[in-house]
Formats: sequence, structure tokens, C-alpha cells
Amino acid sequence: MIRVPATPLEDEVGDVIEKAMRRRNFTPEEVAGRTGVPAGKLQDAIDYRPALSCDELSRIARVLGLNEVGLCALASGRYPQPRLGTLPFCVWPLRMPHGIGVANAYLVGECGAARAMLFDTGPSFEALQAVWPRAITELDAVFLTHVEAEHAGGLAEVVRRHGGPAVFVPGGATVAGGRPMGEGDTRSFGRIEVAAISTPGHSAAHNCYLVRAPAARRGAALLVSGDLLFAGSVGGAFFSPEKLQASLARVLGMIPGNTLIAPGHGPLTSAATERRYNPFIL
Ligand SMILES: [Fe+2]
Repeated sequence: MIRVPATPLEDEVGDVIEKAMRRRNFTPEEVAGRTGVPAGKLQDAIDYRPALSCDELSRIARVLGLNEVGLCALASGRYPQPRLGTLPFCVWPLRMPHGIGVANAYLVGECGAARAMLFDTGPSFEALQAVWPRAITELDAVFLTHVEAEHAGGLAEVVRRHGGPAVFVPGGATVAGGRPMGEGDTRSFGRIEVAAISTPGHSAAHNCYLVRAPAARRGAALLVSGDLLFAGSVGGAFFSPEKLQASLARVLGMIPGNTLIAPGHGPLTSAATERRYNPFIL
């Protein structure tokens, strides 16, 4: 079993309510009018002073199309952080401060080997170096979920320092030397296979990557979810709220419940947990 490290969730209940309001173009006053929850209380939650009862949250969830069980769990500080199943390879979550938040990158490779694949590069090479495990000295490839300063900021220097590993990017992303991977494209390194799932929504060019060891008799898969899906939330729908929601439903519908999810922000989670509790999944 993999124990999930004590990592705070990326979003609090107010962040989720704000994202859901933005998705539907609602103001706090409009939500107040439809739910009977005072607009001031909604604004307080958005400003990180939540004092909403589960009954109020249920009414908010119904109006905003959110999962009320998950929203209430989030508000009460009891959002489930699951114990996760065994993977047939090793994963190193790399958590790097960026602005007021933390951005994640991941190394994935055979346990005990010195080489690995890197998923996203964090905000800078220096930030990545500060959390880099000594055991990994060579890179097979770099995969980008999307091109944003906090996830691809260190790319050029990573490539230069590691002797020019292949860089795989979502189709449509503009990255010098990047090799596009579209829906269903796969790349294999040793026993480990990486399949791209095209997931527009947070940005137009965004991939999740499903990482598996097809020949392994046991072990779950890993989904590197970028800024599509977080434990208890989703990324900002800067490109298209409709496409983000469609990508989310599609990805969670195509992976087994024991799939470990490695998001661009916040802690690891599982597909089963997010299917049941994620506020954006009904
Ligand atoms: Fe991000």
C-alpha cells in the first residue's frame, strides 16, 4: 500500500464554490436568491472564512450542480484521503512552492533504477533541483500535461542538463522541440507505457497521462492529471468550463477505481474517491 503523505488539499470549500459559480456565471447575490443562503456568508466562504452548515451547502450544491456529499466533506475538513493500492513501478511526487501555492511534478520509473520519466517540470529548474531525489540521475523522457509557467517553467534547463531527453507535449501546445501526443498515443520505456488522454478545459492543449506496466501481473495504473482534476476539486476552467467538465467525466469513466491519481496541485488521490466525493462529479 502507498500511504498518502499529509498534503493539504489544493482547494478549500470557498474555492470550489467560486469555481462552480464562475462556471455558471452566477454572482453571490444570485446564488443567495436561489438558495436562501445570505450572500455575505457565501462571500465569507470564498474569502476563506467558511461558516456554512451542511444544509446550506446542500442547497448551494443543488443550485451549482455540485456533489453535496463531497462539498460537505470538504467543508468539514473530512474529505477522504485514501490509502492507495500498490503500483508496479515507483513514483516520486515533487512538490514545489510557486507563488502562494505549490505545484507538483512527478518522476516515474522502475524501483531501484537510476532512470525515470518526468511529468511536468515545475516552475523552475532550481525549484525542481531542490526536491529532486538523489537516486534518479537520468531521464528517459519528459511529458508535459500543459504549458504553464508553474508546470513547464524549468523545461529548457531540465532538457539541457539531462542531455536532451525527448519532450512529449499535448497536441496543439507550442513548445520548441516538443513532440505532440494526441488521444490514445502511447510511448513505452522498458516495461512502462504512457498513454495520452486529450483533456481540454483548463487549457486548450492539455493531456492527462495514463501510466501502466501492461506486463505486470499486479498493480494499479497511475493517472497524471495535471490541472484537470485535483483531490476534491478541479483546475480553473480558463479555456472552457464545458470542455473541462466533459474531459473530467470522460477520464473518470475510463479508468479503474484503484487508479492512483497524481494531480498538478494537492495530494495524491484515487479514481474511486474522486468518483464518489469530488464536488464536480455528480
Ligand atoms: Fe497549475
